[in-house]
Amino acid sequence: MYKNNIEEILDEIDLDTTPPLEEPMRQYYFLKKARKMVSEQSRKLGRPLCASVQTFGCQMNARDSEKLIGILHEIGYQQSESENADFVIYNTCTVRENANQRVYGRLGVLNNYKKKNPHMMIALCGCMMQEPEVVEKLKKSYRFVDLIFGTHNIYKFAELIVNRFESNHQIIDIWKDTNQIVEDLPSERKYAFKSGVNIMFGCNNFCSYCIVPYVRGRERSRNPKDIIREIEKLVADGVVEVMLLGQNVNSYGKNLDEPMTFAQLLREVEKIEGLERIRFMTSHPKDLSDELIEVMRDSKKICNHLHLPLQSGSSRILKIMNRKYTKEQYLELVEKIRAAVPDISITTDIIVGFPGETEEDFEETLDVVRKVRYDSAFTFIYSKRTGTPAAKMDNQVPEEVVKKRFDRLLAEVQQISKEQAKKVEGQVLPVLVEEINEQDPSLLTGRLTNNLLVHFKGEKELIGTIVDVHLKECKGFYYMGEICERQEGKELWHN
Ligand code: 5AD
Ligand code: SF4
Repeated sequence: MYKNNIEEILDEIDLDTTPPLEEPMRQYYFLKKARKMVSEQSRKLGRPLCASVQTFGCQMNARDSEKLIGILHEIGYQQSESENADFVIYNTCTVRENANQRVYGRLGVLNNYKKKNPHMMIALCGCMMQEPEVVEKLKKSYRFVDLIFGTHNIYKFAELIVNRFESNHQIIDIWKDTNQIVEDLPSERKYAFKSGVNIMFGCNNFCSYCIVPYVRGRERSRNPKDIIREIEKLVADGVVEVMLLGQNVNSYGKNLDEPMTFAQLLREVEKIEGLERIRFMTSHPKDLSDELIEVMRDSKKICNHLHLPLQSGSSRILKIMNRKYTKEQYLELVEKIRAAVPDISITTDIIVGFPGETEEDFEETLDVVRKVRYDSAFTFIYSKRTGTPAAKMDNQVPEEVVKKRFDRLLAEVQQISKEQAKKVEGQVLPVLVEEINEQDPSLLTGRLTNNLLVHFKGEKELIGTIVDVHLKECKGFYYMGEICERQEGKELWHN
């Protein structure tokens, strides 16, 4: 739908004039200019050009990549899975050190492709590029990278591509922070029927281990009208599920000209006709309000799932982590949520081996895991991130100790998740059909509102719709089921 609008706007742009200064018109100008350059190169090569976008890290990055793909598509690149392409961009993550190492490793491979294909363009963006040491290293030892930009100016992608086409130098454009949010740029969804929607950018929490506030800048909320308009457009285009995205969605709206709460925003999103499911991520326990719990209890569309990062179960460690809640407060919050929404699925993030973590502290984490009984948990080994307060703490936990604790935690978490998954066995529940099963094409794969996957026989035309599925057998972390058709008040099982 938006596509026609963009075409109409581009038609009216005259590339012989100077680029406009205001956004998003400036970017439309560069979209048109880049399109011309791509088409010239394609003519010279006698074939269409292809581009590959590789995403590292979180849902936020996945959403940003959809914007990158949208722009690449608009300017004429075809999407390619292979990295042996005419344009390759890595949207990087830097939350943990090993993510950085992987990027350097893969750049070596790209360099080999480029030697055989000199017109190839290699671009890097995302959180890792916001670290000055990374950019220094790239400038010195990775001269073959054509384009480097960060998290704040992703909207300028088309303009940066034009800059690179017009010069022979490595282009580097990194901003420290921004308060600008540019709306109405193209983006291409990975799934036709579901989409992430940014509601805010950045983070103000400064958890002592975390690099995100340094690389994503201060909290900025999008205007609720822009969010609602985007979701309405998505729904008109076939989307039935949205994931509202922010580093800390519970503090949404605090810095708007007319402040509003996240719960109020959810009430507005709920009203959108045709939208069936609402998810959101991530909730910081310290900001999760009673008002939000009420909205979750009363909502017909908010999914039965809450991601509530714990990080540690030890109040002593939580204090040093600057998380601003204690073990007891976290457990009380979980109780309050479960009292309001009894069958809600709760998932979490846990870090093992934060500086100074003792066996007793670790036992406290295990205790919370046993008490909350998470439906699933992402467990991480603490990674020292230069520039964060925790990196300067001198009581780092020895690697062997961390490894052992990590294995113990994982075993506990997995056992509990398996037991939790079984909870709905035998029930008939709504499933959003997402895709044809990768292993067995006679099966479809879909998702329950609690985020568990279900595989069942069915026609691919059902993809993107919500169907009732009889959850016949729990296989650990997923279900095997059967579509359930209701006819004249009777229930029929499908073979
Ligand atoms: N080391 C390990 N895990 C980390 N996370 C954030 N920073 C670090 C770090 N330095 C984890 C947190 C967060 C998730 C996205 O990544 O658990 O919730
Ligand atoms: Fe990092 Fe804490 Fe912000 Fe999450 S809330 S992004 S862990 S600083």
